[in-house]
Amino acid sequence: MGGFAIWRRLIDLEGKRADIVRITKEQKNWVDTTIGKIEAKMYEVAVRNLHKIPYLSENGVYNDMSESKIYWWTNGFWPGIMWQMYSLTGEGLYRQAAEETEEKLDQNFLMAEKLDHDNGFKWLLSAVADYRTTGSRTARNRGLLAAQLLAGRYNPGGHFLRAWNEWGGESHIGWAIIDCMMNLPLLYWAGEETEDPRYFQIADSHGKMALEFFVREDNSVRHIVELDPDTGEFVREHGGQGYGEGSSWTRGQAWGLYGFLLSYLHTGDKKYLYMSQKIANYFLANIPENRLIPADFRQPPECEWEDDSAAACGACGLLELSKYVGEADCVLYRNTAVRLLQTLDRERCNWSQKTDHLLERCTVAYNGCQHNIPLIYADYFFIEALLKLADQELFVW
Ligand code: GLY
Repeated sequence: MGGFAIWRRLIDLEGKRADIVRITKEQKNWVDTTIGKIEAKMYEVAVRNLHKIPYLSENGVYNDMSESKIYWWTNGFWPGIMWQMYSLTGEGLYRQAAEETEEKLDQNFLMAEKLDHDNGFKWLLSAVADYRTTGSRTARNRGLLAAQLLAGRYNPGGHFLRAWNEWGGESHIGWAIIDCMMNLPLLYWAGEETEDPRYFQIADSHGKMALEFFVREDNSVRHIVELDPDTGEFVREHGGQGYGEGSSWTRGQAWGLYGFLLSYLHTGDKKYLYMSQKIANYFLANIPENRLIPADFRQPPECEWEDDSAAACGACGLLELSKYVGEADCVLYRNTAVRLLQTLDRERCNWSQKTDHLLERCTVAYNGCQHNIPLIYADYFFIEALLKLADQELFVW
């Protein structure tokens, strides 16, 4: 029961959360104004897109994954935005949109080949957010089912959660990816709900593997680590969605920064906190002068592909991290996060109420064909970050 003894410490950490983040008066004015703009815009967006599950927008209009790709890893971000907005405003329309998506996602439970480690992204932000907000038993049931399916991906010989079923048309049994650090909180949550330590043990075991293999000497983060599926030995890294092998995919840096911190919040194990801080320091050192985050910190200098989602998720990680470090680091992380968000607000946010998306320039994968486009998860993290600053966030991780 060691895991539970450790896990219980989360309660103490949570108790501290509220009074640690302090922002200046000037920053507060900007936060209030920006949240006002988000409220005004998101209501119109929700009215227009009530029955959709958006992933990206084309010419300012959201697409809909409900029919075409109900299994897509991003399908939790729309209900995630809706639950954040519901928690902020109490407006029933947001809840309706979130509940509708959550119900549609049930179809995915019957698609074995289309279920992977991203159950966290899909169901933490939909069903678990619902349960945390409304106490719905149906939502709790969905969250637990998603957690059981995620736990089923654990490889006990290799000590890792298998990421995808296939990538590039091939099956990769030994692949783990950094994104998974954001999925682990689904297991921590299920452990809390059921008091079954297996969830905690699996999440912590994957986390310990990630501490060992994902972060390089210079504190940059690998996207894909290939492990021997029988022994867990490190085989090699792959460039994945970044520029190439040995590069520094920025969204992956953000997943690592925020994800390791989340494991700290759920376990109290300082190894996770220190790793989050190392990645944060690496991230800070690589922010370009214009504060617009490229798709990869090591992409050729002439390349203009950006990733607003890395900036927004990185800002969320820095804000959360700022609550658990000393005063000097706290100020550094918080102010850097605010500057990243202010840059997005000024340079990359589309505030027109007639346009569905907020952030304009995200990259799906460096070597893919979708660059500098609006993607739903960038908007989710931008909103989460602003609500963190206002201390009005629904904490879903
Ligand atoms: N989790 C996949 C991505 O970050 O694109």
